[in-house]
Amino acid sequence: MLKIGIIEKIHDDGINLLRENSNYEYELIEDTSRENLKSILPKFDAVTLRVVKLDGDILNKCNKIKVISRHGVGIDNLDLDYLKEKKISLLITATANAVAVAEHVMYMMLSLIKGVTQYDKEVRNGNFKKNISKIETFELFNKEILIGGFGRIGKALIKRCLSFDMKVNVYDPYINSEIIKKYGGNKVDNFNEALKTSDFVTIHMPLTNETNNLINLNNLKVMKKNSIIINTSRGGIVNEKDLNIALNENIIFGAGLDVFEKEPINQDNPLLKNTKVILSPHSATYTNECSSRMSVETVKNIINFFDKKIDKSMVVKL
Ligand SMILES: NC(=O)c1ccc[n+]([C@@H]2O[C@H](COP(=O)([O-])OP(=O)(O)OC[C@H]3O[C@@H](n4cnc5c(N)ncnc54)[C@H](O)[C@@H]3O)[C@@H](O)[C@H]2O)c1
Repeated sequence: MLKIGIIEKIHDDGINLLRENSNYEYELIEDTSRENLKSILPKFDAVTLRVVKLDGDILNKCNKIKVISRHGVGIDNLDLDYLKEKKISLLITATANAVAVAEHVMYMMLSLIKGVTQYDKEVRNGNFKKNISKIETFELFNKEILIGGFGRIGKALIKRCLSFDMKVNVYDPYINSEIIKKYGGNKVDNFNEALKTSDFVTIHMPLTNETNNLINLNNLKVMKKNSIIINTSRGGIVNEKDLNIALNENIIFGAGLDVFEKEPINQDNPLLKNTKVILSPHSATYTNECSSRMSVETVKNIINFFDKKIDKSMVVKL
């Protein structure tokens, strides 16, 4: 019988697959301190992993672990060189979460342009239409959006943007123009040039040396006054200090952030007091449907891996 460690609780729909399968037994690991992980993990053949960091020091004595199954697609909480050296496979939930993140982008864009928080506050305060002329609102119709990063989420998002009659530009040096055209987008090669004409910019690329600080005060200054930036990818790609300045100085209209340079965000981060940005706690995938899909895919990936039926798209190349 194979022993599976579930590091941090996942939705029951995934756990039920293990309950029903006599080849497996599982244990839920809720104490994620380094000490506990170091002592408990060596008995497992595989683990599922959410956001906890697993480095070589923690995995040092885990001679049985063949595979780590990420509940998600981000792999920045793992030491990839170590996994490669120890021949530990890494799986991701490649298909489960793109729609939830794409919908989160639509929600953030629509909330910002429709003045959702201001209107709601005014009605509750008994002002009904009193201050209505002071609240500026817009439409998505005919607007230009720049999607930075055209992977699973970028592709799920483009359909939604096109259905709102937006014009979509895509910046992704690793995806050719024919593919982007097939999805209804237009490939752009120069990110900073494309910023100049964009009404919306949304980030869907990984955080790397190349993308760190990609959006900063220098290029925020070339953007349109009514433009909006959304980041649901990783903190650090949009420079938070510079974004706060750009919002305060009316260089851009608004922003939506689901991810931050430091998570949880520091309580003294000035963005918390800035009403031109809407914030969510890295929660784009926390819909009921997506939580279920992700847990099922996380567990199915382990079962398929041991059955030698794993789909290549779920395996991270190390
Ligand atoms: N907010 C959340 O809860 C949440 C959920 C899922 C994913 N994410 C993050 O969203 C990002 C995208 O996820 P995905 O599943 O679409 O990933 P993906 O790997 O399918 O796509 C990423 C795309 O970025 C492109 N890319 C790489 N470097 C680039 C660069 N320098 N400039 C432009 N494009 C570049 C790649 O070519 C690829 O097409 C990841 O960073 C992931 O961690 C966040």
